[in-house]
Amino acid sequence: MVQEKLIDLLKEMSLEEKVDQMLQMSGMFYEDEGVLTGPVNTAGFTEEEIRQAGSVLGSVGAEKLMTIQREYMEKQPHHIPLIFMADIINGFRTVFPIPLAQGCTFHPALVEEGAAAAARESAAAGLHLTFSPMADLVRDARWGRVMESTGEDAWLNGCLVRAMVEGYQGREGLREKGRIAACVKHFAAYGAPTAGRDYNTVELSERTLRDDYLPAYQAAVDAGVAVVMTSFNTLDRIPSSGSRRLMREILRDEMGFGGVVISDWGAIEEMCRHGVAKDNREAARLAVEAGVDIDMMTNCYCKNLRGLVEEGIVSESLIDEAVLRILKLKNDLGLFENPYKDADASEEKALALCQEHRQTARKMAVETFVLLKNDGILPLKKEQEKIALIGPYVSNKEIYGAWSMFGSPDTTVSIADGLRNKGYEKILSAQGCGLSEGFGQTAEDSEKLLREAVELAKSADKVVLALGEHRLHSGEAASRADITLPADQMELFRKVCEVNQKVAVVLFSGRPLDIREISEKAAAVLAVWMPGTEGGNAIADVLFGDANPSGKLSMSFPYSVGQVPVFYGQFRTGRPYTEGVEEKYVSRYLDIPNKPLFPFGYGLSYTTFAVGPVRLSAQRMCRTDRLCAAVTVKNTGAVSGQEVVQMYIEDVHGSVVRPVRELRGFSKIELAPGEEKEVCFEIAETMLRFHDIHMNYVSEDGEFRVYIGNSSETANGASFVLAD
Ligand code: GLC
Repeated sequence: MVQEKLIDLLKEMSLEEKVDQMLQMSGMFYEDEGVLTGPVNTAGFTEEEIRQAGSVLGSVGAEKLMTIQREYMEKQPHHIPLIFMADIINGFRTVFPIPLAQGCTFHPALVEEGAAAAARESAAAGLHLTFSPMADLVRDARWGRVMESTGEDAWLNGCLVRAMVEGYQGREGLREKGRIAACVKHFAAYGAPTAGRDYNTVELSERTLRDDYLPAYQAAVDAGVAVVMTSFNTLDRIPSSGSRRLMREILRDEMGFGGVVISDWGAIEEMCRHGVAKDNREAARLAVEAGVDIDMMTNCYCKNLRGLVEEGIVSESLIDEAVLRILKLKNDLGLFENPYKDADASEEKALALCQEHRQTARKMAVETFVLLKNDGILPLKKEQEKIALIGPYVSNKEIYGAWSMFGSPDTTVSIADGLRNKGYEKILSAQGCGLSEGFGQTAEDSEKLLREAVELAKSADKVVLALGEHRLHSGEAASRADITLPADQMELFRKVCEVNQKVAVVLFSGRPLDIREISEKAAAVLAVWMPGTEGGNAIADVLFGDANPSGKLSMSFPYSVGQVPVFYGQFRTGRPYTEGVEEKYVSRYLDIPNKPLFPFGYGLSYTTFAVGPVRLSAQRMCRTDRLCAAVTVKNTGAVSGQEVVQMYIEDVHGSVVRPVRELRGFSKIELAPGEEKEVCFEIAETMLRFHDIHMNYVSEDGEFRVYIGNSSETANGASFVLAD
């Protein structure tokens, strides 16, 4: 249906029918097992309002969604279809690694492949849109939702957010079979809550917001994302859902977004709790004036917009523009012609967890793992070594993260399963302790578990110790002030290390953890995050050397929670601290180092790589030039492997303080033993821009340093001058 016809349709609709389109209800009102992702305020919705809502949040399978749609369309006076939306964050039935782990792949094409698989599965299940990608920049490991982001760097996030949007939406338009609309969230800067506490205030300078936090959302807009979701937080003490500056002036006017804006769950009504709206009626006015088109799960819009228009307080043109965007979204998906789009129960069944998707999930999981330490005990030699498999994550299958509503232990591979799948039958295993404190064990039970584990560790050549954070101790409303492992697990770790020095820790988490003691005492540490459906197979691939780990940290592991927010792109101070130089009046702690335990971009391999000196195609560059920065990379080890070669640029002087360096390129290459390749990065003037002292987005003449290496701490560099 073309725009004119949508406008004609709009003209036929009553004000009440238009407002109906601006409400999204949770699927729970249609089905008992509907999706719930926030506090439920069921008060005040009439049966009619629920039945007339223009969109539904939740997934209950193709057949049920088709029934809901059919019944809705029978009563819909203008044959406007429902749109079904859900949180497909890291996969649908086939669960992929959490997004923070996907960030460690530095592999946009693979991330896109995962999103496309999720789109195929969920489209067949009758869904039309996912509330993904989450583009929030994250630099505070206390915040539970870091698991949902691709990390601490704006450039990497932008690359991966674009890949996810293209994976979900395709490039041929939303009507393409097996595609769903994407919704980038949470606009804006939800990832910087004060004190790392979810839903808390965000205080950012305008320059930090624009230079660091907005670029990844811009990448989604540039990739054609269909919808933007508001954030719960305030920015400049204004709740996002009521901020005209953020939602109209910045998102729509400056960033060029023309699609639908949906509030986060309950966020419009929450402006009353923020204290900026005295009641739901005022909250509705603030939100619709800010350009929020859909009210998710509150009755602010459905109870108040009609009255606000009839009293002349809100112009009906605001309602019309919102509803026109909603109708256009439904039309772009082809729902007017086919309200069921790709819903097909048999296809849904055939695609769910199909071999192709499992293989992609396994390949991706392998590339998300970050080898943080290895004193040579990995890979394991399964024939010659007696290996003890110990820890609460040995057989635990809940390794798919906090947002995997459609994942299940029944379809997930544990580490023990993974080893068995490799024919490693003689697994000697012991749980050792529970996953969380106490774990409901009696003291005797706990002592028995610990004793059995230590006995087993004594008798083994090597120990694989599977430890980690519970999957629900990260994610939404899961901030933690203490980011160490539970005491039971640390006691197990210490006791095992007392009797066996060859301990490889496999670490499950939804965030960087404080693993200082583990990194000192363990012989190897492999961070596997929440690896999803194929996690156990992927871990077995890496433990036995059938796959060589290549992951690089997408977010720094702090030395201590006292450091956070800690990230590689820190700003210079007037009293910089130089590691190892004892000075009093400098920017440092008395009790811990400034550097994180493991930095952004860091990750080991079973082989080694040498990165040669940086060669620049010129020492001077004018704004119309492009510079090539090249290195030769050689595999100096004995096995093939992948290396992520990273390029950072330092703006040595600026009209404002500049970060010590910024990622401006990466390339993942595969090298056989002894093989070498040249890697060349093109530097364009646009990569040097920032918001200067006058808030103009420009590059400034002067010296720049280019660093190229295999982590954000590389010193391998060369300089050039920008001058017109
Ligand atoms: C939640 C989350 C958001 C999610 C939405 C719908 O509260 O903040 O990320 O998409 O509600 O489930």
